[in-house]
Amino acid sequence: MKKRRHKFPENFIWGTATSSYQIEGAFNSDGKGPSVWDTHSHTKGKIKNNDTGDIACNHYSYWKEDCKLLNDLGVNAYRFSTSWPRIFPKGIESKPNMLGLDFYSRLVDTLLDYDILPFLTLNHWDIPQGVEDLGGWPNRNIIDYYLEYTFSLSKHLGDRVKNWITHNEPWCISYKGYIEGDFPPGIKNNWSKSIATTHHLLLSHGMAIPEIKSNSKGAEVGITLNLTPAVPASKSTYDFDECIRFDGVFNRMYLDPLFKKSYPKDIIDWLMKDNLINKSDVDILSEKDLDIIGTDADFLGVNYYSRAIVRNKDIPKEKNLPVEIKSSEKTDFGWEVHPESFYKLLTRIKDDYSIKKIYITENGCSYKIGPDKNKIIDDNKRIDYHSSHILSLKKAIKNGVPCDGYFAWSLMDNFEWCEGFQQRFGLIWVDFNSLERIPKKSYFWYKNLINKNGAEE
Ligand code: FCB
Repeated sequence: MKKRRHKFPENFIWGTATSSYQIEGAFNSDGKGPSVWDTHSHTKGKIKNNDTGDIACNHYSYWKEDCKLLNDLGVNAYRFSTSWPRIFPKGIESKPNMLGLDFYSRLVDTLLDYDILPFLTLNHWDIPQGVEDLGGWPNRNIIDYYLEYTFSLSKHLGDRVKNWITHNEPWCISYKGYIEGDFPPGIKNNWSKSIATTHHLLLSHGMAIPEIKSNSKGAEVGITLNLTPAVPASKSTYDFDECIRFDGVFNRMYLDPLFKKSYPKDIIDWLMKDNLINKSDVDILSEKDLDIIGTDADFLGVNYYSRAIVRNKDIPKEKNLPVEIKSSEKTDFGWEVHPESFYKLLTRIKDDYSIKKIYITENGCSYKIGPDKNKIIDDNKRIDYHSSHILSLKKAIKNGVPCDGYFAWSLMDNFEWCEGFQQRFGLIWVDFNSLERIPKKSYFWYKNLINKNGAEE
């Protein structure tokens, strides 16, 4: 007997995602000001091969062709981000740059002509350098500038864009920007700035919700988090405790304030005990602010790529038990392929936080394989990755996870931050010299899957 395949819910959204700095290029065209990522990539040694997003996929010129590729793919939604310094070149002007707004307005109109829902992310990291120069995210004043930008964009596009994402992956901004220091502004081990960044990102999210809604009738507003489930590497209590801390810093630090109106006490206590922050840093995390942070959002965007196997590095070797968890296969980026953790993550957030709606705003993998002499790109491993994760998602939905959509990262190969053009996540191959776009095998596979609403043969 033929096995019955579960389909996804009717009206399930199938999309792909990109972000402005990673694809647009045109870094100084039509009045655009420099973003922190322009500054970062123009600083020698920050990015592999000193690659920059100056040109990237030149989506700023190729946007019509890219919309056509989206339409041919059959997606019913497309997640992209707007570049804040295209709209407010320094971030502090009183009037928006109309040329920047017009670009996004044309893009939105074209998507809608194709019946593709625009999912617009307001901050996918490329904030104006002008705002950074005034203190960036650690300075509370940034919230006013961010709200100006948000207001202006929703005023101009809110009649047509009904799905808004306030921020992409606040963890990356506050941890990679202020603890690891590989992201702009490149500051290391400054917990005080990192915590302030987290708080101001979340607070500005809460404050932006009513503002966007006032400009965009019937709009849905949410935030996207990168959530990484963690497992201890061994049965050692050291690894176990480290794993709880990892989960706190990575996941609960964002989920708790958004959905429980509090920061995780164990993390704040640890930072205080180790003198990594002081009382004045904690004082800014006021109840009043937390009330705004916890404003009822319409959805949570979840980005999932991999799990973490956590080892406590500070414990003397002899006290650590041998690693018990073996990593599964890895992608070309070295990220473990672990669809089971995707399922676990989704059911955990359903159980621990009462979230009414989830969109998977990113999920994908990097494989370098390129075109053969017939321009065929046989990226079977990418197909396997998406297929296994979509299966986990299907199981999660069946078990009550309220997920309404899935966005594959990414529509096309692009500038992968500090990795430059070395990592390729696209369903479409991009030749970064000629800018030719060639759909990969995974593109056709995804098209077929969408056509059957997720029912795979
Ligand atoms: C996520 C980012 C996205 C992309 C993928 C691979 O963390 O949001 O821009 O770089 O990773």
